[in-house]
Amino acid sequence: MTDQMRRITLARRPSGAPVPEDFALQTGPVPAPGADEVLIEVTHLSLDPYMRGRMDDVKSYAPSVGLGETMTGQGVGRVLTSNFDGLAPGDTVTGITGWASHAVLAGAETRKLDPDMPPSTALGVLGMPGFTGWVGLTEYGAMKAGETLVVGAATGPVGSMVGQLARLAGLRTVAIAGGEEKCRLAQEVFGFDAAIDHRAHEDARSLRKAVAEAAPDGVDIYWENVGGKLLEAVMPLMNTHGRIPLCGTIAWYGGVAGDGIDHLPGVWRSILVKRLKISGLIVFDHWDRFPEFITEVAPKVADGQITYLEDVADGLENAPAAFIAMLKGGNTGKQIVRL
Ligand SMILES: NC(=O)c1ccc[n+]([C@@H]2O[C@H](COP(=O)([O-])OP(=O)(O)OC[C@H]3O[C@@H](n4cnc5c(N)ncnc54)[C@H](OP(=O)(O)O)[C@@H]3O)[C@@H](O)[C@H]2O)c1
Repeated sequence: MTDQMRRITLARRPSGAPVPEDFALQTGPVPAPGADEVLIEVTHLSLDPYMRGRMDDVKSYAPSVGLGETMTGQGVGRVLTSNFDGLAPGDTVTGITGWASHAVLAGAETRKLDPDMPPSTALGVLGMPGFTGWVGLTEYGAMKAGETLVVGAATGPVGSMVGQLARLAGLRTVAIAGGEEKCRLAQEVFGFDAAIDHRAHEDARSLRKAVAEAAPDGVDIYWENVGGKLLEAVMPLMNTHGRIPLCGTIAWYGGVAGDGIDHLPGVWRSILVKRLKISGLIVFDHWDRFPEFITEVAPKVADGQITYLEDVADGLENAPAAFIAMLKGGNTGKQIVRL
């Protein structure tokens, strides 16, 4: 065990897309666990798009990170010291460790991991993002075999879970992803029926034409991960009584661009005319269903029916660069940092 703890803190609030100067690497003593707490040595850290929102000082569904505080996030690690019944040194657990080499957590707020699964899966396919896809489709998708689903950020941990669950349920699945390589992976690794490179389409109209060709019977479920050009492209293709689980709007995380507002009347009217059902989804509202998700999906991951991709950056000091890149599509699969 090293005697120093390293952590990445929020040095200043970003304006638009984050830059390296918004983060700082700090070193200090390793904290000691109190009653019912455990000290963890972090081995894997999750980088997620929602963290961009936590860097702003705005009221949201979760508190912001304060200036000088450790960036928030989930990690996986080994228990070094335990004052909690049920966890012993050497156990592998997951919890909200923050972007740090060590964390002291309440034992009750950690989850002991299945030693048969790679630990990093607890951050992606079998963690919060995979669960988001599963619970959103279960609660709001109302999937029927033969329908068509479209999803953006399709090779990421949410999009790939959504696409694979829809395929297994007998839907036609259309991926929208950034670049030819991600489109190839969407089809060859995740089994999407069609994949469209949004970067190859300058505007929503051109992208819409490609989606219309890939979804000749219209779109019954648009899983919204992105907003921006994708939303504008897909909205007019929605079938009557279509469903839109609204999971994320990453195209706007650097600030809402004009195109989101200018075209609102058209988007709004589509909801009326097509009687669409749009459901805002915050995964934290559904944690009670997490055990059900693991029971249903973990065996499918173990036997390869559901697969996943991970993009691994090495070293805590490289977390800011990996995070900045991920927000621009630089990741291929779940973005992990290995410590
Ligand atoms: N509501 C909730 O509770 C909840 C929970 C988890 C995640 N989410 C949301 O779900 C979405 C996906 O999350 P994830 O963890 O699976 O992330 P991810 O796919 O690993 O990473 C983000 C991806 O977004 C795509 N992207 C970024 N900017 C874009 C743009 N301007 N236009 C089109 N695509 C863009 C990029 O993929 P391409 O290169 O393929 O475009 C990038 O790789 C995010 O919006 C996230 O905030 C919501």
